[in-house]
Order: sequence, then structure tokens, then C-alpha cells
Amino acid sequence: MQTRAAILWEPRTEWSVEDIELDDPKAGEVKVKLAASGLCHSDEHLVTGDMVLDPETAALLQLEQFPVIGGHEGAGEVVEVGPGVTTLKEGDHVVLSFVPACGRCPACAQGRQHLCDLGALLLAGRQVGDLTSRHRSKGGKDLGIMCCVGTFAPYTVVSETSCVKIDDWLPLDKAALVGCGVTTGWGSAVNAAGVRPGETVVVIGLGGIGMNAVQGAAMAGARHVVAVDPVDWKRDKAATFGATHAAASIEEAAAKVGELTWGANAEKAILATGVATGDLVAPMMALVGKGGRGVVTAVGPILQEDVKLNLFDMTLQRKELVGCIFGNANPRRDIPRLLRLYEEGRLKLDELVTATYTLDGVNQGYQDMREGKNLRGMITY
Ligand SMILES: NC(=O)c1ccc[n+]([C@@H]2O[C@H](COP(=O)([O-])OP(=O)(O)OC[C@H]3O[C@@H](n4cnc5c(N)ncnc54)[C@H](O)[C@@H]3O)[C@@H](O)[C@H]2O)c1
Ligand SMILES: [Zn+2]
Ligand SMILES: [Zn+2]
Repeated sequence: MQTRAAILWEPRTEWSVEDIELDDPKAGEVKVKLAASGLCHSDEHLVTGDMVLDPETAALLQLEQFPVIGGHEGAGEVVEVGPGVTTLKEGDHVVLSFVPACGRCPACAQGRQHLCDLGALLLAGRQVGDLTSRHRSKGGKDLGIMCCVGTFAPYTVVSETSCVKIDDWLPLDKAALVGCGVTTGWGSAVNAAGVRPGETVVVIGLGGIGMNAVQGAAMAGARHVVAVDPVDWKRDKAATFGATHAAASIEEAAAKVGELTWGANAEKAILATGVATGDLVAPMMALVGKGGRGVVTAVGPILQEDVKLNLFDMTLQRKELVGCIFGNANPRRDIPRLLRLYEEGRLKLDELVTATYTLDGVNQGYQDMREGKNLRGMITY
């Protein structure tokens, strides 16, 4: 069929919205008519080059990262199923999980679906079943799909391992958020940080990820949730998601946390800035006290290795510094579970969407992200 998509032909250019050819689903795949796609900062890393492999590594992996259809936070309706698909049928509503979950690799078998072996293909852009492409440009060029889904398009073809079936009465344009941002942020607090009742938690960066870390920390029973962002209105907004205090910078947060805890400092800190840079790690780890934990959810430039960190302090105060992908969640359990909390009025989704765009407005959406205008911008189809 013919459809449209926002394509990035190479880093440091704009998204180009074009007509494309979309093939029928092959074995184990489904065609999804998308209702909406969130504008997560991770697609912006393709534009800036932060998430782009160097040519040597790409060649070694036989991986062509560009051109690529962006978008990895979507939800929609299954309109066609390929041969051998047993877990989905036409008409099913699905959230697309930005990490596929095969259910049978060692990580999935251990209940760590966010580490599914298929995650190795997140940047490969091809179908996980046979490593070929279902998406083609008008000129006949194979197109990659971001995180095996490519949601910047009204239709896509994906592996059934990327789909999580949800109740069909849920609003798809809100459910889309759970395909990345909500699960990642909420899980950064609840799973990766392991926030316990009564703790003090600092969340650095209040975008689609950080704001959900705030609501996860509050839901887990944190006593203080200190929300940090240079953008004024985001700090104000954080209170509605459960923040108890706000600060414009990590330095300001350090003073506040010291005061709030009589010098004991926070139990947990979560880094959710637009870009993770090595200079942010030492100040983040200085926010947590003895036995405390720092969680790096923000994504750093792919080749960056330099990190500021006081190892003396880390050792003698027995601090932990941990990474976090997709909120360390199990999408098949956690996506329906989070949507249940939304239905019951305990998890905020509506308030996260601060602007909607058409597909043609994708570049405007990212410009608004850069200017700090959105918690989450959302493309609706
Ligand atoms: N680990 C994962 O699985 C995963 C999944 C999705 C997104 N991410 C990453 O999480 C990060 C956040 O994504 P997002 O969509 O929320 O981005 P966003 O751009 O919407 O929000 C980032 C926020 O950080 C703030 N910020 C920037 N520098 C800051 C600083 N020094 N101190 C405090 N705040 C600062 C910005 O003002 C902005 O509000 C990105 O790096 C993204 O790639 C990771
Ligand atoms: Zn994302
Ligand atoms: Zn797996």
C-alpha cells in the first residue's frame, strides 16, 4: 500500500515527510494503523548524531542506520496479520513496545523483557524476523524503522513481538505514551531506583521521561520528590505529578536536599535530561547519601566515555550508579498495568500531552521540544 512517513535521510538534517510504499506483513508480522505517536527525545538523538554509529562500526555490523523512519512511542489498531501470527488478530488494539519482547530469550525468560535479545536490533531498523525491510521510499530505497517500529507514519508493519494488546476502550492517543515515555520514567523510579516509602528522590530533567519518574516516585511513596529543570513552567507543573519541591539546577537541588534531609541527602536520584553528559554524573551522585543510588535513564552520545565521578565517595559511601532501559520494565506486564492505573485515575496521561501535531508538523514538534515548550508533543493521525 501507499502511505506516508517522516524520514531522516541523514543526521543533522530535518525530518522529511514523504509518500512511501509499505509491504504486506510477512511471517510473524502485523500491519498497524497508528492513532498517535509521541515525540520522544530519543529520535532527536538520531538528528543530532548522538545515537548514530560511526561508519566503521556500522559496516562491521552490516547495519545501515539511514534513511530511517522515526518514532517509537505509538499505539494503534491491527489491520492485517501475516502468516503464523497467533497472538493478535485484525481489530486488536496495541501499544507498540519500543523494545520487542520475544518471551523466550534468556532475558525474557528471567522476567527482564527490557533486555530482550531482540533489543540488539533497535538501531538496525529492519524487521526482526528476517532482517529485511517492509518500508520503501518512492525511489525504491529500503527504509529503516526506529526501534523496530517507526511510528512517524499512519501505518507501519512490525513484528508481533513489538505489540502489546490492550483493552479496546482505552484512548489510543494516550495509550501511545506508555510505549516509551511513561513506562521508562515511571519504571526509572519504581524499578531502577527502587523507591521505597519515605525516601527522598531527586529527578533531574522534567520532559516526558522525567515527569513520569516524578509520578512513579510519588506513587511509590517517596516523602520528598525534588523536581529539577531550568524551565519554570515545567517545575510548576511537576507538583501536579507529585513533586513536593522544585529546583532550577542540580546545585540548587543540592542545597534544598541538604536542608530537607538535615544533611543526610537523598536516597535516590534519576538523570532524565535531554542528553546525558559525563559532567552531570558527579553532581548527581553528590545528591545521594550513604548507600544511595543514582539512575542514568537519559541517553548519552554513543561514543562518550568520559564521566566525572568521585570514586572515593562512591566506594566509601557505598553508592550505586545504575543504567536503566525502558524503566527496567516487562512491557507485557507493565503496559497493561500502567493503563489500568490510568483508567482508575491514579496515573496521569492526559496532562502529559501539551501539544498535538499533524505528521507534517514533526519538525515543529521537535523545535518546540528544544525550546522547552512541551512535556510531550504528540502526532495524531
Ligand atoms: N533509557 C531509556 O530507555 C530511555 C527511553 C526514552 C528516552 N530516554 C532518554 O531520556 C532522556 C529524556 O527524554 P525526554 O523525552 O524526556 O526529553 P525532553 O527533551 O522532553 O526533556 C528533557 C528535559 O531536561 C531538561 N534539562 C536539560 N538539561 C538539564 C539540566 N542540566 N538539568 C536539569 N534539567 C535539564 C530540559 O529542560 C527538558 O525539560 C533523553 O536522553 C532520552 O533519549 C531514555
Ligand atoms: Zn523514547
Ligand atoms: Zn526476548
